[in-house]
Amino acid sequence: MRKLAAGNWKMNGTAAALSEVAALCTAHPAPACDMLLCPPATLVAQMAAAAKGTALQVGGQDCHAKASGAHTGDISALMLQDAGATAVIVGHSERRTDHAETDAQVLAKAEAAQAAGLVAIVCIGETEAERDAGRTLDVIGTQLAGSVPAASTAATLVVAYEPVWAIGTGRTPTIAEIADVHAFLRARLTAKIGAEAAGVRLLYGGSVKPSNAAEIFAVPHVDGALVGGASLKAADFGGIVAALSAA
Ligand code: PGA
Repeated sequence: MRKLAAGNWKMNGTAAALSEVAALCTAHPAPACDMLLCPPATLVAQMAAAAKGTALQVGGQDCHAKASGAHTGDISALMLQDAGATAVIVGHSERRTDHAETDAQVLAKAEAAQAAGLVAIVCIGETEAERDAGRTLDVIGTQLAGSVPAASTAATLVVAYEPVWAIGTGRTPTIAEIADVHAFLRARLTAKIGAEAAGVRLLYGGSVKPSNAAEIFAVPHVDGALVGGASLKAADFGGIVAALSAA
């Protein structure tokens, strides 16, 4: 399996930030892992143009479940694909919180993404209160069951485990906690989609940095990372790409 370093710029970046893309592609012309950046929708086409002929792939951060229609302000998976994206994040915890997205909505978005030829990066993760209550596996098991399309394959699905309390906080679960969750996810995914599950990339996300990447990538069933803050600078994201390439 080819591992995946995915970056999520969230609501950050204007055209000036594309200089980071040039620096990243120059420093990592042929990484031993897949390398993906998901900029704001306004930059997808420009970043895809800048990445042409390089190892970098470009993705969206969200898509609508419908291909077109009267949905002011929304963007369809088809539009992202048309702009040069090869993947899209769906169900990020910030969308689940800010826009009250449900598992059913995330499922519909993931299906739309796959139908448009995009890889659906489905995000799941527990809150701190849920972890403290001992409900982590229960919560992510429910999210996985409700958000992952049953027809997914290793080529069309990536699952990102992102504990909500680890996002942007500098805090991460212990290595043993990450290992427990990822082994659980592989088993649940196998029960849901069968043998294809063995090839689905399971990403860890939440405060991944160059300094902690190597130990996280050594965990069984961690097949890459979804990186927020540290994906904004080429040097930081490049450090994570290098750690994953060496893993
Ligand atoms: P972070 O964000 O790396 O800044 O913690 C991760 C994410 O939200 O995908």
